[in-house]
Amino acid sequence: MNRVLAFVSGAVLLGSSATALAAGDAAAGKAKYDLFCSTCHGMTGQGDGPGGAALNPKPRNYADKEWQKTTKDADIFKVIKEGGPAVGKSPLMAAWGAALSDADIHNVVAYIRELGKAAK
Ligand code: HEC
Repeated sequence: MNRVLAFVSGAVLLGSSATALAAGDAAAGKAKYDLFCSTCHGMTGQGDGPGGAALNPKPRNYADKEWQKTTKDADIFKVIKEGGPAVGKSPLMAAWGAALSDADIHNVVAYIRELGKAAK
């Protein structure tokens, strides 16, 4: 009986982590985003966080529909992991590869997509 239960919960765990890697878990991404990114990009992702107010260029507004449409997940992943200069953008956007694992970054990308959808 116990063995069956252990097997079942193991399968559920494996299943959920595989999904998180493939698509990104927006809820997990939100936790990292609120901690590391919202100071500049804003709690709702409109580029209006207090830490971004004095910056030039301004932090990206994720509610920008054109940006959401034309920017690939891989591009968002790269700028988060390697920083602005890696994609020809400002060094004010730091590289987060040391603070966030690849799985974390996939989750944050998923959350950035959610913020884009939530915007009016
Ligand atoms: C110190 C303020 C600051 C913090 C903190 C910050 N960013 Fe940025 N970010 C910027 C600025 C400024 C830009 C705009 C760079 C540009 O347009 O050249 C930017 C741009 C971006 C872009 C858009 C690149 C594009 O295609 O235009 C993404 C995505 C992004 N940041 C994600 C994040 C994530 C995720 C975090 C947290 C892990 C984060 N940023 C933390 C300042 C910040």
